[in-house]
Amino acid sequence: MTAVAHRTPTLASRLPAVGTTIFTVMSALATQHGAVNLGQGFPDFECDPKLLDAVNAAMRAGHNQYPPMAGIAPLREAVAAKIEALYGARYDAGSEITVTAGATQAILTAILAVVHPGDEVIVLEPCYDSYAPNIELAGGRVVRVALTPGNFRPDFAAIAAALNPKTRAILVNSPHNPSATVWTRAEMQRLASLLEPTDTLLISDEVYEHMVFDGAPHASASSIPSLAARSVVVSSFGKTFHVTGWKIGTVAAPAPLTAEFRKVHQFNVFTVNTPMQHALAAYLADPTPYRTLPAFYQAKRDLFRAGLAGTRLRLLPSEGSYFQCIDYSAVSDLGEEAFCRWLTSEVGVAAIPLSAFYADGRDQHIARLCFAKRDETLKTALERLSRL
Ligand SMILES: Cc1ncc(COP(=O)(O)O)c(C=O)c1O
Repeated sequence: MTAVAHRTPTLASRLPAVGTTIFTVMSALATQHGAVNLGQGFPDFECDPKLLDAVNAAMRAGHNQYPPMAGIAPLREAVAAKIEALYGARYDAGSEITVTAGATQAILTAILAVVHPGDEVIVLEPCYDSYAPNIELAGGRVVRVALTPGNFRPDFAAIAAALNPKTRAILVNSPHNPSATVWTRAEMQRLASLLEPTDTLLISDEVYEHMVFDGAPHASASSIPSLAARSVVVSSFGKTFHVTGWKIGTVAAPAPLTAEFRKVHQFNVFTVNTPMQHALAAYLADPTPYRTLPAFYQAKRDLFRAGLAGTRLRLLPSEGSYFQCIDYSAVSDLGEEAFCRWLTSEVGVAAIPLSAFYADGRDQHIARLCFAKRDETLKTALERLSRL
């Protein structure tokens, strides 16, 4: 038989600007050079064995078929109770809480549900890399507003200048990846006042809500009633319980917003894996794991910062999340990506350039390191970094 050459049609890419991310590049480089990988943001330690036992028990109890579309009722009820206890906001578990396949799916689904072609969506750069492609997939226009250079606090004059009748939503992430800043309650209130006269929604990415340090509170959008009324609040169990690979999170939003969210969710993932939902519902009965998380990560932050204090790296504040940014201007003239490649291959520690979180790739001589690692891993990294 002669082979027939079948033709694969040529596509016009929906996301022409998207290529291999720096996270993949740096992780491959870290493996190649045996570097300690402080680049990608995930723990190198295990979750609580009780959580694993709960998943196992759920599977053996026969919780292995499709759950309800919005998530199992006990998990939605546990999440509603947790939000009320922590932030004083009452969400109806039936009509206002949805279980998602992690925050990534929650954010895409929220954007697809609310953004119409031509709508504008504000993102505050530097920002998580999925936001802009999500907005583009919905046919929206990405409006980039920079966080204040130097301290990465919100620039309210710039946000106000960007708001207009076409602004469908603004995405805010606090505690913030990559800068590790945490919005104060006053800053959230200022955002609430800015949005009050508009029809703009807030998509509040709060995946690091349980990693806020030095006794500061997490100012959730849900805790400010005028903001909660226009917000889709996104949380992630992956971050909170050291199970980033489970890809499970929740969305809390007023009933009319949840109804639109679920229309897309239904035909996007439809449901999220059943045994994990049962396990998390049972595990949430004890608040200790998330109540003690700030102290757990603060100890790692302090160990890491103390180790870096003797180097010429300038440490930016790390108020929350599991990231620490460093200004390496006193150490090297290299651009951020070149510096991170050098750090990985020559020093043996992988980091992520801050420029990866900006569309224009601007260079501020800053790199992001992740300290969600075992103390031994951090100490090995610190030994290597102590030469700088
Ligand atoms: C700011 C931010 N949002 C969302 C996510 C994604 O969370 P999930 O793993 O639950 O999809 C991450 C993960 O790194 C993140 O840093």
